Order: sequence, then structure tokens, then C-alpha cells
Amino acid sequence: MKTEISLRDYLATRRSIPAFQMGEPGPDRATVEAMLTLASRVPDHGKLTPWRFIVYRGEERARISAALAKMALEAKPDLSEEMIKVENTRLTRAPVVVAVVSKAAPHVKVPEWEQLMSAGAVCLNLVMAANAHGFSSNWLTEWYAFDERAHPLLGIEPGEKVAGFIHIGTAQVPPTERPRPALSDIVTWVGDV
Ligand SMILES: Cc1cc2nc3c(=O)[nH]c(=O)nc-3n(C[C@H](O)[C@H](O)[C@H](O)COP(=O)(O)O)c2cc1C
Repeated sequence: MKTEISLRDYLATRRSIPAFQMGEPGPDRATVEAMLTLASRVPDHGKLTPWRFIVYRGEERARISAALAKMALEAKPDLSEEMIKVENTRLTRAPVVVAVVSKAAPHVKVPEWEQLMSAGAVCLNLVMAANAHGFSSNWLTEWYAFDERAHPLLGIEPGEKVAGFIHIGTAQVPPTERPRPALSDIVTWVGDV
């Protein structure tokens, strides 16, 4: 059920739901498009749009997950039964998984670091856009984000980096809170305020 809360209350209570605690229903194509439109509305120095999306849905998720499991087994033939199961369900835990792909590249004015951060902003925006549409979300990377041998399987082009695989679905259990940092540990005040 979608409930309207203030932006402040949303930010004060926002939580991810682990992908393994997600299930159906997921968003339909039009809703995913609405989410991606919101997600792309991020600060982007130089208006370079140094990121793009790949949306994994339906049966393709199982096919890619099986291929990822095969790759994982080739790399580690002694993989436990439990881990084989995990690898086989990498993209099938949530009904929709969106790769946020960074296309950051050298630029005369905008450092690559800033382009990468813009992709991170897209990830969090998509996490929140999913929530805004009444769905749960989880920002994951995992080994196949970094192992370039897995990239062709996932549709990631040479030179691109994965900022995150955003899992989107419906929570099967209520969210639990997790500890947050104390401001005194992370804030330095400079000057009077
Ligand atoms: C860039 C990035 C990559 C992440 N990758 C993973 C991952 O691969 N596996 C994992 O269990 N959590 C990963 N996380 C953490 C999850 O998103 C986690 O569920 C989240 O931090 C929970 O915090 P929240 O409730 O404040 O959203 C990652 C987080 C970020 C920012």
C-alpha cells in the first residue's frame, strides 16, 4: 500500500530492504520508466549524463543468474551448495533489477571523480524513486559488478563501470532499523553557527 508521508519524515525513516527479503509484485514497465525519469534528475557537472541504465526483468534474470553461477563455479570449483544457490539467484530475488552504469571518462573540465559521484547520486535517487512509487529497493554491487568477465553477460560495455544494481520489489518482511552514525563522530564545525 502506498502511503504519503512528508519528505522530511521519509528521509528520517528511509531504509533499504535486503534483496533476499523481496518478492513480487514488482513495478511494470511504465512505472519503471517513471522511476528512471526521477532517478536521472541528479546534479551532473557539465550536463555530461555520464551514466545509463540497464533494466533486467522476467526470464532473462534467471538466464543471466545461471550464467553468473557457472562463472563463479569456474573460478571457485569448491563453491558450497549454499553459495551455488546464491549465485543462481543473483538477479531473481527482486522482480526488477536496474544496473546504474557509469560512463565516466576523462574530460577537459569535469574530473572523472565527479562523474562517478553523479552516478552514485543516480543510484540513491533510484532507491528513493522506487520507494516513492510504493516499492522496496536495495543498492547492491557484488562481484559481478567488478569482474569484467561478467560484464558482456550483463550488457556492460568495455570502459563502463557499475555504480550499482538497484533491486526493486515488494518487502516480504517489515523493515528493521540499523544503527546510524552519531553526528559527533562525523561532523567538524568550522566557525560559529
Ligand atoms: C555502492 C554500494 C554498494 C553496495 N553493495 C552491497 C553489496 O554488494 N552487498 C550488500 O549486502 N550490501 C551492499 N550495499 C549496502 C546495501 O545497500 C545496504 O542494504 C544498505 O546500505 C542499507 O542501508 P539503508 O537502509 O540506509 O539504505 C552497498 C551499498 C552501496 C552504497
